[in-house]
Amino acid sequence: MRKKDLLTLFEYTAGEIGEILALAAKRKADRGASEKKVLEGKTGVLIFEKPSLRTRVTFETAIHELGGYSVNLASESVGMGKRESVEDVARNLERIVHVIIARTYAHGTLTSLAASCGIPVINALTDRAHPCQALAFGLTMREARPAGQKLNVAFVGDGNNVCCSIMALSAKLGYNFTAAGPKGYEPRAEAVERCRGICLSSGGSTSITSDVSEAVKNADVISTAVWASMGQEAEAEKRKKDFAAYQVNAELLKRAPAGVLVSHCLPAHRGEEITGEVLDSSACVAYDEAENRLHVQKAVIEYLFS
Ligand code: CP
Ligand code: NVA
Repeated sequence: MRKKDLLTLFEYTAGEIGEILALAAKRKADRGASEKKVLEGKTGVLIFEKPSLRTRVTFETAIHELGGYSVNLASESVGMGKRESVEDVARNLERIVHVIIARTYAHGTLTSLAASCGIPVINALTDRAHPCQALAFGLTMREARPAGQKLNVAFVGDGNNVCCSIMALSAKLGYNFTAAGPKGYEPRAEAVERCRGICLSSGGSTSITSDVSEAVKNADVISTAVWASMGQEAEAEKRKKDFAAYQVNAELLKRAPAGVLVSHCLPAHRGEEITGEVLDSSACVAYDEAENRLHVQKAVIEYLFS
């Protein structure tokens, strides 16, 4: 049987995503009581080419709660692709540990790791995708809207990795997804087309607009993320100007239906893509979403090792 990875949500069916979210909800409800110790006697390695708070701490905690041991590697010391090839890093690690959790700049580095070893590889964020964040978003939506109705999701800002993964989750689960951002910052065309294809059978929709009012007017939830992602620091000042009209603030929330929720993957740049007022308001579910990273990642590991 081919090993399973989590590289993007495109490789997962709606049924599998639903199973992972249901398992995460169950494990969250009785944390510490019913977990299967699927990593008993096993080791997970974290290789992060970029900084992290949430992803690193939730994966290390997840591994420990599932009975395993985690090794956190500073990517400079590994020199992936510099000291030795990405493929050789994978070929070595598969002899020693049982799962690789990787945060890379190029998505291709992650896929090369996964293609070169026989152990599961989990995407902890690449330039293209952040599937664990999207799963945490999905769990947060299940909790906030338990009736399970079809959601209207508006992603305001940059069409980045987080946007693309929430777009993929939305397509799979049959949500109506709209990305609103300035021209030139849309989500990747290939991902948009793929989502539109998925929506033909899921009943969802994938829309792209530069009209932020249009995007939020029927929204159940507005999600956003930093305007300059890790690796784009040199563009930060230009992006502040380009994205100025796309801030998630109290005035934008007034253009959305009453009761709209606000999601953010965090870290947040208060006063840029989101105001402190909105981030600290009762509409905001960003900190629930941050906690839910732990629960969904435990469910992903349980899924990959069952
Ligand atoms: N949301 C998220 O992935 O946070 P970190 O970059 O801190 O891991
Ligand atoms: N788009 C952001 C997400 C951080 C969690 C980045 O890639 O830096």
